[in-house]
Amino acid sequence: MFKRPPPLFNRCVACFASSVDGKITAPSNHTDPHAWVKLGTPADLERLFRLRDVADVLCFGASTFRAWASVRRGLTHQANPLANPPIHVLFTQSWAIDWHAPCFVEWQTHQQNWSPFFVASTNLPPADLPIEILSFLHPIHLDASHSPAQQLARVKDAVTPFLTPNTLSTWMLEGGGQLFDFFLQAQAVDELHLTLTPQLIGGYSTPSLVGGAGFTPSNWASVSWTSVEHHPPELFLVGDVVYPPNTN
Ligand SMILES: NC(=O)c1ccc[n+]([C@@H]2O[C@H](COP(=O)([O-])OP(=O)(O)OC[C@H]3O[C@@H](n4cnc5c(N)ncnc54)[C@H](OP(=O)(O)O)[C@@H]3O)[C@@H](O)[C@H]2O)c1
Repeated sequence: MFKRPPPLFNRCVACFASSVDGKITAPSNHTDPHAWVKLGTPADLERLFRLRDVADVLCFGASTFRAWASVRRGLTHQANPLANPPIHVLFTQSWAIDWHAPCFVEWQTHQQNWSPFFVASTNLPPADLPIEILSFLHPIHLDASHSPAQQLARVKDAVTPFLTPNTLSTWMLEGGGQLFDFFLQAQAVDELHLTLTPQLIGGYSTPSLVGGAGFTPSNWASVSWTSVEHHPPELFLVGDVVYPPNTN
């Protein structure tokens, strides 16, 4: 019997840049395993910023945050750094986060006027989390026995009271590939905005667009492209994510 779950979010977009071989970053050298580079051109970055402008909630995995530990702003916010950025939701299991990163210094300074900063995890916050960080951080405790869809529903319930009532909100997944896998398991992403960059990067452990264990053919999601634009040397693609029937 075909059962289509109701959409988890009103609208959830994922935004990525990926090389021809599906990598979302590249090692800048072979000696430092943490030295990753950005792939896209400034035009790709502007594309990301424009999408952030229409997002109410930004979701990102801890590795993405560790690679880029700054406040995530849209194009209009770049001009006004004091303006309230979209709600941030950081996903981590380890809580191995640099709480002195520029992002938290800024958030602490503006916490009276800014939206909350959420951290979603199946683990409780560490006891030594700095008190000044706890003053504005909103932990969301996830149940590890729950499915990805149930866990994201829990995130949505925690965040919704902070969204403007009676308006349709846009959630945005900023990466990386591991968190995209989790969102795909939950069938949560509606729209993919992908910049296809021209490189062929390779590497067994270079993060790719979708991480995790991978989906078997009957569970593959696919993308139905609605827009393809050539912005040399990149392709700007937009598509609807189409999921297989949910037979659970
Ligand atoms: N090209 C692009 O568009 C793009 C976009 C985003 C990121 N990137 C790059 O991609 C790299 C990171 O990607 P990635 O795939 O390796 O990692 P990722 O998805 O950014 O982060 C993985 C980490 O997020 C946490 N996490 C993931 N799923 C979770 C869940 N369901 N619940 C709670 N926590 C969860 C865990 O954090 P802990 O380790 O703390 O437990 C996990 O190790 C970086 O180099 C970044 O710069 C590129």
